[in-house]
Amino acid sequence: MIMDEEVSIDPWGSSQSTDYSKIIEKFGLSRMDGVFLDSPSKLHRRGVVFAHRDLDLVLNAKKSGDPFGVLTGLMPSGKMHLGHSMVIDQATWFQQQGGDVTIAVADLESTATRGISLAEGRKIATEEYIANYAALGLDPNKTTVYFQSERSIVQKLGFQLGKRTNLTELEAIYGFDGSTNLAHVQAPLVQAGDILHPQLEDFGGLRPIVVPVGIDQDPHLRLTRGLASKTNWFNVSDAKIGLQVGVSIQEDNASVMGVETSGRVNKERQKEVFSNIVEAIRQLGYSDIISNPKHGTVNVPSATSKDKGAIRMALLSLERSMGGMGLLAPSSTYHRFAVGMTGDKMSSSKPKTTLFLSDDITTAAKKIKKSFSGGQSTIEEHRRHGGDPDKDVAYQYMMYFFEEDDSFLEEINQGYRAGKILAGEMKQMCIERATEWLSNLSQKRDETAHLVDQFFE
Ligand code: TRP
Repeated sequence: MIMDEEVSIDPWGSSQSTDYSKIIEKFGLSRMDGVFLDSPSKLHRRGVVFAHRDLDLVLNAKKSGDPFGVLTGLMPSGKMHLGHSMVIDQATWFQQQGGDVTIAVADLESTATRGISLAEGRKIATEEYIANYAALGLDPNKTTVYFQSERSIVQKLGFQLGKRTNLTELEAIYGFDGSTNLAHVQAPLVQAGDILHPQLEDFGGLRPIVVPVGIDQDPHLRLTRGLASKTNWFNVSDAKIGLQVGVSIQEDNASVMGVETSGRVNKERQKEVFSNIVEAIRQLGYSDIISNPKHGTVNVPSATSKDKGAIRMALLSLERSMGGMGLLAPSSTYHRFAVGMTGDKMSSSKPKTTLFLSDDITTAAKKIKKSFSGGQSTIEEHRRHGGDPDKDVAYQYMMYFFEEDDSFLEEINQGYRAGKILAGEMKQMCIERATEWLSNLSQKRDETAHLVDQFFE
């Protein structure tokens, strides 16, 4: 038994920690328990989506009828498997909640880290991924798909943001060292560009953007959130009483802020900046605002943590009107990894570990029959001690993918634990549902094939 295994997440690695509680703690994620959702999807109801960052920004936007966006991405590097479908499940859910959806095809990342040519990446993305996204119910009219290699703003943004970080930070986040290929340094910066660009004026403007991903992608979100806040001209934080806005003087905003190259402060200019801040906050309905240009702060004693989001948004707008980027740190949600069929990690390069969305029924049934079971080694023992649905791949696949009915799942969960349902019977139920799900999908793929092009417009 490994006692003190270091909790680590590597977006390109093959081994990941799956101690989700520890991951939440170590990386400062927020738990999904206690987050109220109007119409949770099955991944929410079952705790598969287990953590988030700043999801409240998005839920509040929805509540008040304000716009919000969804951005996620795919790396075109092989066949699409069930694990990949979770992100689309989530994007579709947010889309149904009113979000506009943008999907990045990470063809640059794929060419840099997997050796897939751009042309090949394009083909895989279109025929394999987007075709399935359409079939899974993503609405082409409310979705835009783009290629990293073709959206120059994404690369430009990545390059600009590179100025706000350094190798030491990337070493800390990704575990890089001197031998790390530079493609792995560039890819996260481009991904930061992916994540942040939808809030630029040309792509929908300032609004919360949520990034639904597997937990392996959280390092990129940590990086991106850090980069965004480092560019911010105004920072909102908790004060002893209420909230405090701090002004951040930077190389590229100093003169706008009234700090001349000599270091001298242009009092007139500074006064104007501070009255702009006060005005932006006043417009939100606060009247007690204490401006302290000397300290570079503005205090709002009657504001609470709950008001942070609104004040932050108002100040980002102000920053933009003054010539800054006004970037809002992205929100995110994280899903767990589905276990591989063999009980190990699911991987496209090991066909036996996963069901592909294009698997035919016979192949799928064969994989499920051979899948790792949480049953006992003999029927007698199973009847006596019961099985473990948490380890049983057939059960897990029904829970993650194939079965919508919560009460039915609960029933077979208990039946399995009690030894009433045998491992073979569990597999049979899974095969039946997988058969239906996969044939359904394949039929949908035919029906929606003509929509694929619309995703790129
Ligand atoms: N890195 C992601 C992967 O490995 C793909 C990706 C690129 C992405 N850009 C993104 C994911 C932006 C989420 C958001 O699959």
